Parts: sequence; structure tokens; C-alpha cells
Amino acid sequence: MIELKNVTKKYGDFTAVDDISFIVAKGEVCVLIGPSGCGKSTTLKMINRMLEPNNGEIFVNARNVADFKPELLRRQIGYVIQYIGLFPHMTVSANIGIVPRLLSWNREIIEKRVDELLNLIGLDPAKYSEKYPHELSGGEAQRIGVARAIAADPPILLMDEPFGAVDPLNREILQTEFIKIQKKLKKTVLFVTHDLDEAIRIADRILILGDGRIVQNDTPENILARPVNKFVHDFVGADRALKRLSRFSVGSVMRKPKSVKISDDIRKAVENAKGKPNSRFLWVLNKDDKLLGWINTRSVKANQPVENAITRLQHTSMAVREESTLKEALSRMLGEGVKVVPVINGNLKVVGEISLLDIEKVTEEVTDKWLD
Ligand SMILES: Nc1ncnc2c1ncn2[C@@H]1O[C@H](COP(=O)(O)OP(=O)(O)O)[C@@H](O)[C@H]1O
Ligand SMILES: [Mg+2]
Repeated sequence: MIELKNVTKKYGDFTAVDDISFIVAKGEVCVLIGPSGCGKSTTLKMINRMLEPNNGEIFVNARNVADFKPELLRRQIGYVIQYIGLFPHMTVSANIGIVPRLLSWNREIIEKRVDELLNLIGLDPAKYSEKYPHELSGGEAQRIGVARAIAADPPILLMDEPFGAVDPLNREILQTEFIKIQKKLKKTVLFVTHDLDEAIRIADRILILGDGRIVQNDTPENILARPVNKFVHDFVGADRALKRLSRFSVGSVMRKPKSVKISDDIRKAVENAKGKPNSRFLWVLNKDDKLLGWINTRSVKANQPVENAITRLQHTSMAVREESTLKEALSRMLGEGVKVVPVINGNLKVVGEISLLDIEKVTEEVTDKWLD
């Protein structure tokens, strides 16, 4: 856990961080976001005592950081920055092993740990451990930076725009990997960015900073739905309702699918649909619940088998996965020009359906209070 209590930092007469208080709970990813110069890096550097506050107190796992020797404190706190500064004359494996060596770990244990970390970040140890930093791409170097920061398994991770210098495509890949690794390791993370999309993707909690003060401390869903003032409103942007959709999974919103089996009698199918809302179209499934197509219950003639009435389709062209986001489901609907799509699980079985109306209900939670 990280806790800041009324922390202020001045550079001469200029107050860079102004009386801020917040808590990052154990295992949580808290993203500190705000415009350039608002005091994000200054806040981070006070936590591992690269800077000292003028006022206030900082606690890491309930201990005041002022009571630690800075070097000892930093070994318990992983720190990742934008240009990670790998040592150019040291191999990847030597770079990753720096802190474990400082902690006098046994050599074999360090080697094992380095291999384990390279595997964790998706780089083959056989291929990468003896490389030098100049032989790495920007994205690879950044991954090594993350591996180095967590080498000695520190409970706390401070990350200052760690993916800021990587191109957008690789940045997204790194974010996805980070989310995956964090699920496994459950570090307490304070992550600085000025990229709102990045914050929305990775954060459990977002702290919006403006001019050295905390303007809103909330979940990503609430920040997007209910900005506390015009500053936050303008910062999160006009498309916040759309951005917010990426925080909800299809599985959390979907309904039971309205479907028939290919072997069913058509009359039974149409009777089943009668009187139910949105039941003009039924998904047609095989015996394993896999999607074969759909039928329009209004245009089918009685007495014909489903087989003859079906419009066949590829599940890949229409269905969305239950772990997809509502944003992805919406773009699927817009792309296919349909108001309802089937939802499949990892085994390609149809487990639900989701409609434009279901998505609209979520977007309606967004208030327009700060529009002018
Ligand atoms: N060593 C310093 N001396 C004087 N001013 C500084 C120093 N470091 C940062 N600042 C100023 O403090 C403010 C906050 O800086 P910083 O925490 O680096 O912002 P951010 O990381 O949010 O971009 C900025 O206005 C910056 O110019
Ligand atoms: Mg900064």
C-alpha cells in the first residue's frame, strides 16, 4: 500500500505538488494522469525519495518512507521510466539481475530468475539474455525495463510514462502484456501517464491531477460518466461515453440468446418467439450450440424445416466474444449494420446476445452536466 498525506513539494517559490493526499490499495493499479507539468513525476519521485517533500508524509506498507535509508527503500520499490536507461555495456541478463546482485542473491538463483522474467515478458531467454541494449527494439528495451524493475519481486511498482516513447501499436501490445502480468503478480502500482486511453485500459483507479492538486480520484467508469468539474470534463473529451464502453465486457451485459436448433421444427421455433421482445430474428445453432446462421420468424412459412429458412453466416463475421468490450461490440454492429449480435465463448458456443439498446443503456449513465 502507498499513502500520501498532505504532501507538498516546492521548487523555490513554485508549488509543483500542492497538499495532495491519496491511497493506492494493495494490488491496485492507480493511474496518475494530467497535463504536462502538473506534478506527476514529482509525486512519484517523492515516494522513492529521489525528492523530499516540503510538507506532509508518505507511507509505503504503513511505514514512513522518511525512516528508510533511500537505497534500501528503492530495493523494495520497482521504478520504470520512459527512456529506461539500460546500461549499454551490460547484457540483457546482467541488466535484469542488477538488484538481485545488490541483494547478494546466489548466482544460480539470479540466472533462474532472469530466465523466468524473460519468459514472463515474452522474450525467449536463449535469444535475448546475451544481447546488448543497442540490439533491442524500443518495445523490447521497455519490456526489459519492466523485468528489471520487478526482478527482486518488490511489492510496489512506480511507473513514469513507461510506454510513452514507444509507437502506438507497440504501446498497445505493451499495455496488454502489462495487464496480463499484473493479473498474475498483483503488485501495488502507481502508473503515470498523460495518455487517457492508456489510463482507461489499465487503471483500477484514476487520479486526475491539475496544477499540483488532485481534481478527481475515482474509478475510470465514474470519471468518464461523471466528471466533477469542467477541467475533468474537457480533459476526458467529448467521446467519453464511447471511451467508457471499453470498460465493460460483453459478458457482463449480454442477455440469453433467442435461438433455435437446426434440427428444431419451424413451428415450434416461431411459437417460441411469439410475444417475446426483439424476437423477430432467431439464431440457428447446431447440436453443440455453435452458430450456423439466423432465421426471420416473420418471413418463414410454417411447415418448412429450419434448414430451409436459415440465412447462413460465419460466426466470425457476426459474433463477438463474451470477454470483448462493449466498444468492440458496438463497432461490430456498426460494421455489419445490425442491431443485435450473438455472443460466443472460447469454445465458439453461443452463450448470449447483445443489442444496441443494451449498449445505449450503458451510455445513458453518462451525464452532460459540464457541456456548455
Ligand atoms: N528541478 C526542478 N526545478 C524547478 N522546477 C521544476 C523542477 N522539476 C520540475 N519542475 C517543475 O514542476 C512542475 C511539475 O513537474 P513534473 O512533476 O515533472 O510534471 P509532470 O511529470 O506532470 O509533467 C513543472 O512545472 C516543472 O517545470
Ligand atoms: Mg513527468
